[in-house]
Amino acid sequence: MTDFIYHSPTKFVFGRGAVDKTGGELAAAGFKKALVVTGGSSAARNGTLARVTASLDAAGVAHREFSGVRPNPEIAQVRAAVGAFRDGGCDVFLPVGGGSVIDCAKAAAAAVDHPGDPWDFFRGGTGVSAARPVAAVLTLPAAGSEGSASCVISNDAVRAKLGIGSDALRPRIAIMDPELTFTLPPFQTAAGVTDMTAHICERYFSGQGPAPVSDNIAAALVRTLRDAAPRALADPRDYEARAAIMWAGTLAHNDLTGCGRGASPSVRAGGWESHALEHELSALDPKITHGAGLAVVLPAWMRHVMRADPGRFAAFGRDALGLAPSGDVVNDAEAAVDALQAFFISMGMPRSLADFGLATDCIGGLVESIGRTKGRVFGAFAELGPEDVAAIYRSAFDQPCPKYRG
Ligand code: NZQ
Ligand code: ZN
Repeated sequence: MTDFIYHSPTKFVFGRGAVDKTGGELAAAGFKKALVVTGGSSAARNGTLARVTASLDAAGVAHREFSGVRPNPEIAQVRAAVGAFRDGGCDVFLPVGGGSVIDCAKAAAAAVDHPGDPWDFFRGGTGVSAARPVAAVLTLPAAGSEGSASCVISNDAVRAKLGIGSDALRPRIAIMDPELTFTLPPFQTAAGVTDMTAHICERYFSGQGPAPVSDNIAAALVRTLRDAAPRALADPRDYEARAAIMWAGTLAHNDLTGCGRGASPSVRAGGWESHALEHELSALDPKITHGAGLAVVLPAWMRHVMRADPGRFAAFGRDALGLAPSGDVVNDAEAAVDALQAFFISMGMPRSLADFGLATDCIGGLVESIGRTKGRVFGAFAELGPEDVAAIYRSAFDQPCPKYRG
């Protein structure tokens, strides 16, 4: 096991009716005025926003609203949120939504006391050492932002989508009420489960270890997701399935499974190769949903690097996916990736980049762009140069998934 410092200071308030405790939790933490940040319309439509504001009113916490954060949130919205927070005299950000809304609030929280532009943090050079407090009401389990040290923001003008990480960005409080997720459409449910599975895989395939505790937790989380996802898709109001997915999503990304696998303060275990490959896609077209992009590029990346350590993939197949070993480790590694991709496809996720309306002529631009953000050669499990990146994107247009072919 590599040395680590695990710092997860978030207070998780989980369960039925947790949303109605929002005001009490904020008041108990000493907050006086919240900037309530929301996305398009789901929180208002579902009644979640009304329950949050009623609970703030009941607890005597003043509030101001900031709405309209889009999926794959954009830097202009971060700037506007900073202005709303300052003008409103707020002392806590209260995002009510999924990863996009929480990330917009986290980026703004870092920028409130920064004299320059919020994008300074993302284009590098300016680290985040402090941020205003964030308390999150989670409505979509996926990104894990409610417990993570990171946030990811797009800048349409320079066609970039970049992340930053700092323990200062971890939310103080996360309100997690699985009943709020009953309204999630199947596509968002599936994309969320795919994203959290990818967060587990990025750390599992960090190329460092051994870390048996983290490995076993990781495998148990994947098994839990494979069991709960079909149940939540079959019955969106299945509380136990929704609750399992929600908590698994947090543990998938609050760095628990990175302990002993190369994680150090503010540095995540793993090379985050498939996330880098996906972020380029949603920077190219902000309508591409992060989890859906991962459903395509994660298996493509795995097939490309698998031969660097097939035993690791075979172990993942056995422990996380329940596959019986065949005696041939390469065969078992291939079967593991097939089974993982089959899981994504069974939830309705796409299998090819063509499913996003992309054509192979975008590959050159994607390779150039990833070289600018990650460097010419990057990767922890196996090094990826420009030819590798191009080959992965090419293969992501035509992926064999024998079990589900035809
Ligand atoms: O905008 P509204 O109307 O609210 O609708 C949202 C949005 O359209 C809808 N939604 C949310 N809760 C709902 C609901 N619809 C019905 N019922 C509910 N309860 O879902 C749509 C997608 O929301 P979004 O927040 O974009 O999804 P997600 O949580 O998957 O977040 C994706 C973003 O997080 C980033 C991604 O890159 C992407 O930008 N990530 C953040 C990470 C982090 N901070 O640690 C790590 C991840 O790897 C990821 O990169
Ligand atoms: Zn992700």
